[in-house]
Amino acid sequence: MVLEFVHHCSYDCVFVYSLLVCSLFQALQSSTIYNITASRPLIQNQTLVSPCKIFELGFFGPNGSEKQYVGIWYKNTTFSKVVWVANRDKPLGHKDQSASLIIGGDGNLKLLDGRKNAIWSTNVMAKSNYSAAVLLDFGNLVLQDGNANKMWESFDEPTDTLLPNMKIGVNVKTGKKKYLISWKGEDDPSPGSFVLGVTSETPPQLFAWNGSSPYWRSGQWDKSKFNGIPTMSNKYLSGHQLVQNINQGTTYYFRNYYNNSFGYVSSHRKDL
Ligand SMILES: *[C@@H]1O[C@H](CO)[C@@H](O)[C@H](O)[C@H]1NC(C)=O
Ligand SMILES: *[C@@H]1O[C@H](CO)[C@@H](O)[C@H](O)[C@H]1NC(C)=O
Ligand SMILES: *[C@@H]1O[C@H](CO)[C@@H](O)[C@H](O)[C@H]1NC(C)=O
Ligand SMILES: *[C@@H]1O[C@H](CO)[C@@H](O)[C@H](O)[C@H]1NC(C)=O
Ligand SMILES: *[C@@H]1O[C@H](CO)[C@@H](O)[C@H](O)[C@H]1NC(C)=O
Ligand SMILES: *[C@@H]1O[C@H](CO)[C@@H](O)[C@H](O)[C@H]1NC(C)=O
Repeated sequence: MVLEFVHHCSYDCVFVYSLLVCSLFQALQSSTIYNITASRPLIQNQTLVSPCKIFELGFFGPNGSEKQYVGIWYKNTTFSKVVWVANRDKPLGHKDQSASLIIGGDGNLKLLDGRKNAIWSTNVMAKSNYSAAVLLDFGNLVLQDGNANKMWESFDEPTDTLLPNMKIGVNVKTGKKKYLISWKGEDDPSPGSFVLGVTSETPPQLFAWNGSSPYWRSGQWDKSKFNGIPTMSNKYLSGHQLVQNINQGTTYYFRNYYNNSFGYVSSHRKDL
């Protein structure tokens, strides 16, 4: 099921790289669109698809769940993991069939429930009335203005999965932190207890917490690998990047494009 993984904290908290994993959701039968505009929202029986049809965004209800979410998954696998969730804190009811993802009058992307309450929204000062949301082939949902300038992107708000070129990290000057936070359970995208982040020390390292307890550390980054992970083989090294800019106060970890793989944190993978 899991094809490869680089390193794992233990039996329970893993950071895996894999392409094929079991289905965690059931997508509705859908028609596809390639952008969301003020005049064309995304409704429940539709999905937003990236230009080369690599990623798909839509409404999903995890297996057995009474709740609905908006998320992104790989399109071209029969069973695919959800890699991003918009409303993981605020699910829609399962029977809410008139929810929609719209461009609001203020140019922001909003998820409306059946009563037209915004349960999730981007929060940008839109520069024009011509905002559009598009899904890129990297799996990045982008809200752009009329000149196709990026105003917001889902890569800025990671959930539990690190896609290639998506960053987690910290900016000590602004206090902004980007973590991966596990799903609460296989059928529950709400935030669970496992958190993967990056320290701002020099040299930095990856760390995982289980709730408020430190759980795992990668060891310091030595410019090409983490010295606490002796098993990191050369095969994987090329992909890892940890970039620290002392002046800007930023430390970020990301992976280059490699093998279409991705990493995610989980507290419930008993099969490894
Ligand atoms: C994580 O923390 C919870 C609550 O303290 C605990 O029940 C669970 O066993 C911990 N998980 C692991 C893998 O240590
Ligand atoms: C969904 O849940 C049912 C009943 O619990 C189970 O039999 C089935 O295998 C599950 N499907 C997936 C894809 O997990
Ligand atoms: C949205 O898609 C439609 C039809 O696919 C296309 O005509 C239009 O130019 C697109 N608009 C933007 C802003 O991408
Ligand atoms: C999707 O749903 C809308 C409204 O419920 C309906 O008008 C439309 O025909 C449906 N489209 C498809 C492809 O099922
Ligand atoms: C889907 O994946 C299969 C196997 O990896 C590949 O052969 C096929 O061309 C892909 N289809 C598309 C539309 O990308
Ligand atoms: C956006 O639309 C509003 C209402 O239609 C209009 O008053 C405003 O001038 C428009 N702004 C731009 C930048 O086009």
